[in-house]
Amino acid sequence: GGDAEAPLEDSYVVATDTSFVPFEFKEDGEYVGFDIDLINAVADEAGFKVDLKTTNFDGMIPGLQTGTFDIAIAGMTIKPERAEKVDFSDPYYKSGLRIGVPIDNEDITSVEDLEGKNIATRLGSTSADYINNNIEGAKAQTFEQLDQAYLAVQNGTSDAILYDAPNVAYYIKTKGEDSLKMVGELLEAQDYGIAIAQGNESLVKAIDKALSTLKENGKYDEIYQKWFGE
Ligand code: ARG
Repeated sequence: GGDAEAPLEDSYVVATDTSFVPFEFKEDGEYVGFDIDLINAVADEAGFKVDLKTTNFDGMIPGLQTGTFDIAIAGMTIKPERAEKVDFSDPYYKSGLRIGVPIDNEDITSVEDLEGKNIATRLGSTSADYINNNIEGAKAQTFEQLDQAYLAVQNGTSDAILYDAPNVAYYIKTKGEDSLKMVGELLEAQDYGIAIAQGNESLVKAIDKALSTLKENGKYDEIYQKWFGE
């Protein structure tokens, strides 16, 4: 990397996570989801091939820094601390955080009710930061696998889960229908971006250009409807 005008490679190693519905998850042995469709459309548009690798979410930025991955797409929130370590594309999805609790829970109806509670979330996520910085006396119970965080709420180890709103909503609509419900308002507006290893300016430019083309030609909307439409 380093050369701003360097031509694109034929193929890039793209890291994604193993389970973050509906952005990336395994179905019938294959990785599917909004992020998977989006990065494939971006790659088609920009003219490179995707060599997809799955990894734990908290390993993505280190992997971009050491050159194991070129690109990461995993519902990653654009944050200043991260932008010091990797480059971000233009935002591609507006998100935020939501609370999920057991379906029969009556005590937790808003973020204020989370004070002093055990809250399950993902290791290295913006939700873990939110719990530590904004919720008085709460304990962030962080899990490497997201499914473990949901399970912790279902089996009573945690009082609630705090995580990305679209993920909590989709989980509840699918697997968690009988066991969990969403409460409170959307917390902390966030933008997701595609992360790119530093020093690949031509790749960042190509990805941004492709994103804007996909937004103009309706492909972005098609992918959005597929995963978030009613
Ligand atoms: N948006 C949150 C963050 O950036 C959580 C993203 C989790 N993504 C995932 N693939 N597990 O921290």
